[in-house]
Amino acid sequence: MDKIRIRGGKTLNGTVQAGGAKNAALPILFASLLTEGECRFSRVPKLQDIRTTLKLLSQMGVETPKTLTGSEVSLRAKNILSHEAPYDLVRTMRASVVVLGPLLARLGKAKVSLPGGCAIGARPINFHLTGLEKLGAKIELEGGYVTATAKRLKGDRVRFEFPSVGATENVMMAATLAQGESVLENCAKEPEIVDLAEALRGMGAQIEGDGTETIRIQGKDQLHGCDHAIMGDRIESGTFLAAAFATGGKVRVEGIAPETLEAVLVKFEESGAIITRESNAITLASKGRPRGTDVTTLPFPGFPTDMQAQFMAAMIVAEGTSILTETIFENRFMHVPELARLGADITIKGNTAVVRGTSGLKGAPLMATDLRASASLVIAGLCASGETEVNRIYHLDRGYEDMEKKLRSLGADIERIS
Ligand code: EPZ
Repeated sequence: MDKIRIRGGKTLNGTVQAGGAKNAALPILFASLLTEGECRFSRVPKLQDIRTTLKLLSQMGVETPKTLTGSEVSLRAKNILSHEAPYDLVRTMRASVVVLGPLLARLGKAKVSLPGGCAIGARPINFHLTGLEKLGAKIELEGGYVTATAKRLKGDRVRFEFPSVGATENVMMAATLAQGESVLENCAKEPEIVDLAEALRGMGAQIEGDGTETIRIQGKDQLHGCDHAIMGDRIESGTFLAAAFATGGKVRVEGIAPETLEAVLVKFEESGAIITRESNAITLASKGRPRGTDVTTLPFPGFPTDMQAQFMAAMIVAEGTSILTETIFENRFMHVPELARLGADITIKGNTAVVRGTSGLKGAPLMATDLRASASLVIAGLCASGETEVNRIYHLDRGYEDMEKKLRSLGADIERIS
């Protein structure tokens, strides 16, 4: 099993390119199930989760590339042979539940393994299911699987109880082939939803209001192939900026729209960093150690939960105290006991972490627990004196392409050990 070894204490400086966004690419690749036409996607990141998605699509009969070499992926769901997403794949990547909407809309039937809980929380899919039911689907749960059927979905008003990213994506995709108009209310407004809607419009779908609370979709009888470039990864970009900040450096990330990361940029500024926003790049310049800053995670446009762990890594070396409150997932402080092994001073009470900054982190062996937690351990290791080893980095490989190479290009002393 691969691990990462870091010799800390180096300041990060330079320029790095943002990859395509994992969380936009996943639903967009699944959207190819909505049409028999060819869908060509560019800027697809080379990640484990993308490989899992292609494997699942291929099992369903979608023409997919044999290997993920470049960043261009062409998919053709001419004949769908299976309407089932099996347990062995869904359990490795819960985002596979977004096949439900497109498969149901195209075939009238979909069977998907219930994903179960994961390291960061229980993560049920009830909002996905009630949304699809509202469009006329019959939902049955049996043997750990959910089966959804409908002769043809019918447009309706769907109000989400919470602006869930996955539920908004699933129901939005399903509604593109429903009969008549669907009005989705209290939708997630994340930039990845807008990117998915862009891809769907490229396929001929009629969608308005994505990026706002209310999305209106006029269902079509069929969609066609498309060409779509995936948006830049705001969380990967934010991770590099947090690493620059924590090590007292200056890093420019190119290929990222600053407005997709605004809530994080504002917190970097509040904490003492100088941020330069360009149309497709962000630069963070440190002015000494960060200052302790409070953060509460919220749905977009609030501070993203996917940046909480990495921001915390910058706050553990800050001057002063920070209070980080996690409101999206109930168990997203798994990195805290690992950070404590480096000497971080953090107390957890419920969904709040009180972080008292220190400048004396010391390297230690650590265990990654989930994707963003892994990134926070890497950032903390970059700040610690001596050697830090991060184990179980398969979590990292699910969401960061060539992370150690990119960090090395910024001056980090970091290597992957097989
Ligand atoms: C997406 O997950 C992202 N994943 C997550 O990124 C991200 O953390 C999350 O959105 C929040 O921004 C992908 O896009 C593939 P939700 P998703 O539905 O869609 C509860 C990463 O590190 N909920 O918005 O699963 C749920 O339990 C990952 O890249 C229900 O109760 O998130 C959670 O508490 C991790 N019932 C909250 O809503 C439901 O039916 C938000 O979940 C659905 C969700």
